Order: sequence, then structure tokens, then C-alpha cells
Amino acid sequence: MDVKEAVLRRRSIREFNDKPITDESIRELLESAMAAPSARNMQPWEFYVIKNKSLQKQLRGALPNANMNSSLIIIVAGNDQRGLTHQVNDYWIQDCSAAIENMLLTATSLGIASCWCGLFPMAERVEKVKEILGTADGIIPMALIHLGYGDAVAVPRTQYDEKRIYLYEETEKVL
Ligand SMILES: Cc1cc2nc3c(=O)[nH]c(=O)nc-3n(C[C@H](O)[C@H](O)[C@H](O)COP(=O)(O)O)c2cc1C
Repeated sequence: MDVKEAVLRRRSIREFNDKPITDESIRELLESAMAAPSARNMQPWEFYVIKNKSLQKQLRGALPNANMNSSLIIIVAGNDQRGLTHQVNDYWIQDCSAAIENMLLTATSLGIASCWCGLFPMAERVEKVKEILGTADGIIPMALIHLGYGDAVAVPRTQYDEKRIYLYEETEKVL
């Protein structure tokens, strides 16, 4: 599958069957995530790979927005210690988002269904996940990614809309 096809085929899937994801595929997903660009290459991300069913159940119970039965959950978190300081500190959000999208596109190319569920900046969700995972200080859970195999077939699509594009053409030289 080429990149454009993966981009169009990636859709949020919210129903999964029990088929597990192999360790080899998990490794591919994480390699893709950590190939993402990051501001000053700080790589301010951490990945919590949750295969444990009881932990998955706890997370589902605590997060109504992410209450889905996938076989694998990966939580992507920002790491304050690795982030930039002062006014550029918030770049970690863009860095982690780039890592997530890389992971979702690779998942699609492997035939793995996914759903990105937001945590940060919802303080209550962030706190619940920190508590359940027992994360270290300075770790900010940003998104919970459900991964697994789905029986549903999602329609590939773009939502291309010309009205959202502002084109600045090359101006003609006036002599
Ligand atoms: C930052 C972010 C947070 C999201 N949070 C949730 C969520 O909490 N629960 C959910 O079911 N989907 C969530 N989604 C998935 C969106 O609902 C979905 O991407 C959107 O409806 C477009 O559909 P598509 O992913 O199939 O293209 C989230 C997506 C993003 C990018």
C-alpha cells in the first residue's frame, strides 16, 4: 500500500475482534511513531504499550470517550523533561501528534484498525490515566490509541474542501 492509499484508508474504527497484534507489528508501529519529526529533534514522547487485559478494562471504565474493546492500547504521552522550555514548550503536542499519525498510517498499511482517543488537554482524563498507569512526574498522557483488527470495512476518503484553501499565486513582475 502506498502512502496516499494509507492516508485515505485510515479511518477511526470503534469495533474490534479478539485477534491479537503480533510483537513484530507492535515494533513496526513504534518504529514508525519514533520516525516522526520533532521540534529541535527533542523527541518528547513516551509510549505505554498496554496488552494487559485488566489494565485495558480499567482504562475503558475510566474513559467513556475511549470505551472500545481493542486488543491493544498504546498511550502516547509527552515528557516534560525532554520538552523544550519557555515559549516553545508546547511544541511537544505537535511532536506527539506527528508520532501518532505515523503510527496510524503504518497500522493501516498492516491491515490494523485504529482509533485515536484524546486525553490531553482534558485534565480529568489525564489525571485518571496517570493514576491507572502510575506514570512518573512530568509525564502527560496525550492520547489513547486503540489498535486491533476490525470486521467493519471503512470507506476510504478525503474531506477535501477548496474553500479551506488560501492560495497566494506568484505575482507577475511589473517592469
Ligand atoms: C485529537 C483527537 C481526539 C479524538 N478523540 C476521540 C475520542 O475521544 N473518541 C473517539 O471515538 N474518537 C476520537 N477521535 C477520532 C475522531 O472522532 C475522528 O478522527 C473523526 O471523526 C474523523 O473520522 P476518521 O478518523 O474516520 O477520518 C479523535 C481524533 C483526534 C485527532
